[in-house]
Amino acid sequence: MSDLLSTEEARDSWGSKIGLILAMAGNAVGLGNFWRFPYQAAQNGGGAFMVPYFIALVVLGLPIMISEWHIGKFGGRYGHGTLAPMMYLQAREGMKPKKALVVGSVCGGIAFAVTLLINSYYNHIVGWTLNYSFMSATGGYMDHSVTTSEIFSETIQNPFGVFLFWILALIGLAFAVSKGIKKGIESWAKIMMPVLYCFGIFLAIRALTLGSPVNPDWSALKGLEYVWNPDWSHLTWTGTLSAAGQIFFTLSLGMGLISHYASYLKPDDDIVVSSIATISLNEFAEVILAATIVIPISFAYLGEAGLTQGIGLAFVSLPNVFRDMAFGNLFGTAWFLLLFFAGFTSSLAMFSYLTTLLEEDIGVKRRYGSWCIFGCYILFGLPVALEPILTKTDALAYFTEVDNWIGQYLILFLGLFELLILGWFVGKKALPEINRGGIWKLPRWFFGLLIRFVAPVTLSIVIVFSTLQYSNQGYFNLMPEYLSATPELIPWALLARGVVLFVVAGGIVISYISIKRKYGDEIRQNKILIRK
Ligand code: PHE
Repeated sequence: MSDLLSTEEARDSWGSKIGLILAMAGNAVGLGNFWRFPYQAAQNGGGAFMVPYFIALVVLGLPIMISEWHIGKFGGRYGHGTLAPMMYLQAREGMKPKKALVVGSVCGGIAFAVTLLINSYYNHIVGWTLNYSFMSATGGYMDHSVTTSEIFSETIQNPFGVFLFWILALIGLAFAVSKGIKKGIESWAKIMMPVLYCFGIFLAIRALTLGSPVNPDWSALKGLEYVWNPDWSHLTWTGTLSAAGQIFFTLSLGMGLISHYASYLKPDDDIVVSSIATISLNEFAEVILAATIVIPISFAYLGEAGLTQGIGLAFVSLPNVFRDMAFGNLFGTAWFLLLFFAGFTSSLAMFSYLTTLLEEDIGVKRRYGSWCIFGCYILFGLPVALEPILTKTDALAYFTEVDNWIGQYLILFLGLFELLILGWFVGKKALPEINRGGIWKLPRWFFGLLIRFVAPVTLSIVIVFSTLQYSNQGYFNLMPEYLSATPELIPWALLARGVVLFVVAGGIVISYISIKRKYGDEIRQNKILIRK
């Protein structure tokens, strides 16, 4: 107990309200907004994707965001910055400590796997954005004799470039995280986020003033129409599930990250208005800026066909445009730096989560711990770097598997567990806590209707159908069928599955030990002893 108090006293916190909001926006606004969202929307019919997207934003995004802020703020009061003990504290309000230990371990295990594995590929994309910023400034993709998709393949298959920019990004992250919450994360977000929004607005204005530079039938406005004018015939189940998944990914939900940042709040800090501010800043970046930049620019230069690039949209289609645009170097640099800032400030959250885990569980100081996490990310990121280099393909099977299981699937379960525990086990007692110090109070009906019913029911449906879809697509088969044409990639996919299983299982064990060390006495006696 005295141990807990001393860590609590020494705990870092946010320096200012604006700093907190910018850091939270930095957490949420990431590559998910500028790289993932446009190709998800484009692949799923544009406007027809936006309909389930907005529904998911209201029925899943808002309730889970508020829940995660609350879970984090409450856990922070007990000195915890990671999800296992936080969820233990929530769960024990409605069940015996021994059972709460199971809930905490499972939730903590998922959050551990998410933060270690999503970042293992995400940091690479952050490295690519840095590499491309450099290439934009120096004219690296301006040569018309090579296609931009060839340039992309070369870029991710060139060992020197891949390692250089990846490691540079990781060094920047480790350095920022080593400085702590206020002096590290908050100060970087206070610089990077405003610059990101300025670059975004600048590029959006450029997009809107493009006219029809190539073909009279192609224009930026047509691109906007594609996003905002739903063609109902394109509304599909797959698109609906992807829209729900996108809401999770873009808002950093089901990852433990929002709760991690919220744990550095003070007891009387508001959470409802802050949650709404985070969502608004994220959605401004996503549906206003990203949707106005990426899709209209591609549409104006390449027509609808330019939108079919999938994950290459940001890295293949847009460079193709910048090379034809006046001052393309300038716009290209602004675009890739924007991606870099977005990705960097999100990676910071995952990096900080694991550093905090080391700090709180085994007492490693942040200034050393962040370099240990640097080592972990190098280790777990190696397969992502090596696959394209060794196989000379850019199919990215390892990356795809990890993203499918962790980035699109497991996060949904974590969200569901949080809602069920908060809505049904903590129940009405949660409301006064959520509203403590609140500028706006969360109405009782919101808790009773959305957090208890609508969100968990919707999410359960999404999980059931996503599972069916995975099974139809053969993801549950031992041999990943989508790779049957490229059998040399199968070992990479199997490796990814092995790593996912290993890390989830390891995360559960680490979480179990972590809770036991903090609450061992009360778990043994199976009654609550520690209250703050
Ligand atoms: N919301 C983040 C994004 O949109 C998700 C994320 C956070 C991913 C941290 C990786 C690391 O990109």
